[in-house]
Amino acid sequence: DSADKGEYRHFMLKEIYEQPKVIKATMEGRVTGSRVLEQALGTEAANLLDNVRHVQIIACGTSYHAGMVARYWIEELAGVPCSVEVASEFRYRKHVIQPDTLFLCISQSGETADTLAALRQAKKAGFRAALAICNVPGSSLVRESDLVIMTQAGPEIGVASTKAFTTQLTALLIFTLALARHNGLAEDKEAEIVKALHLVPGQVSDILALNAGIEEMSKAFMDKFHSLFLGRGSQFPVAMEGALKLKEISYIHAEAYPAGELKHGPLALVDSEMPVVTVAPNNDLVEKLKSNLEEVRARGGELFVFADKSAGVQEEEGIHVMQLPEVHEITAPIVYTVPLQLLSYHVAVLKGTDVDQPRNLAKSVTVE
Ligand code: G6P
Repeated sequence: DSADKGEYRHFMLKEIYEQPKVIKATMEGRVTGSRVLEQALGTEAANLLDNVRHVQIIACGTSYHAGMVARYWIEELAGVPCSVEVASEFRYRKHVIQPDTLFLCISQSGETADTLAALRQAKKAGFRAALAICNVPGSSLVRESDLVIMTQAGPEIGVASTKAFTTQLTALLIFTLALARHNGLAEDKEAEIVKALHLVPGQVSDILALNAGIEEMSKAFMDKFHSLFLGRGSQFPVAMEGALKLKEISYIHAEAYPAGELKHGPLALVDSEMPVVTVAPNNDLVEKLKSNLEEVRARGGELFVFADKSAGVQEEEGIHVMQLPEVHEITAPIVYTVPLQLLSYHVAVLKGTDVDQPRNLAKSVTVE
């Protein structure tokens, strides 16, 4: 029962633990063992996805971070240019939309005022099709879009979004593969990524099993006022989402930076009072990330690193490393989100905040 916390102390924790199940449910009927079933995205999908030359993503809050991850996927796998913008900015500026644009709105509720306003405005300007990634059937966004991929997260009660985000990412990756097929992605590459996606629910369960260690880590944040989250590539939006979670529920100021920008400003702030959280899967960028970590360490900053076992990040004085299971580079953003959710959750519990209903925030912002 979604309105029941069951054995969990908070809805947020329950929803974090539901992720293996709801990610799987979001894949159900949309992928085989090795292929994406494009027809599952709607009878018009094949026709509408043909000749898409540009993707414009619009969203707010956590859903915006899902869109930022998707941009890395869409440009890498489909080779289609993709722009991402928060709805409240997009709707109030003069924008140019090309006619062969796929307009993609991401929203858990499907009722966020800014996102709906952006879609309605863009319709007037004209585009090829509107795709919605949404968690609430029958919502305004769903009704007003040409194509819909419903996330199967089930009702999300905690104001801080968790399972809605990871199911949005799952839906976005399925969409990306469908679009990529129209743009020459090799069949074996599609199979490789679909297989990696099938491993995600199990990998998320493996992360959940690290809960006690993450809870231990959270103690270091309790008396801090500021923190920095670093990531590179598609892990940069994961760092943004991690920082947003910490802000929302623990009220600790958290800022996310692409790791390469560290030297252009935030490094000036780093000292022993500013914990630095880093997500570091073992991709091409990890060596660069390691030198960023050294920069932080040299300034007395305390580091909390979530890294792939094989990334070779060593635990030492001031560097706390949480070893994560090996994951495919493409699916890594989904898996690496989960330890950051748990970290924020435990910091908030230690601080005694109202985890499920943080002050000043609403689950869905339906008025401006
Ligand atoms: C509010 C919620 C966030 C959510 C955002 C966008 O700020 O507190 O958790 O990410 O709205 O909501 P949506 O329903 O459009 O995804």
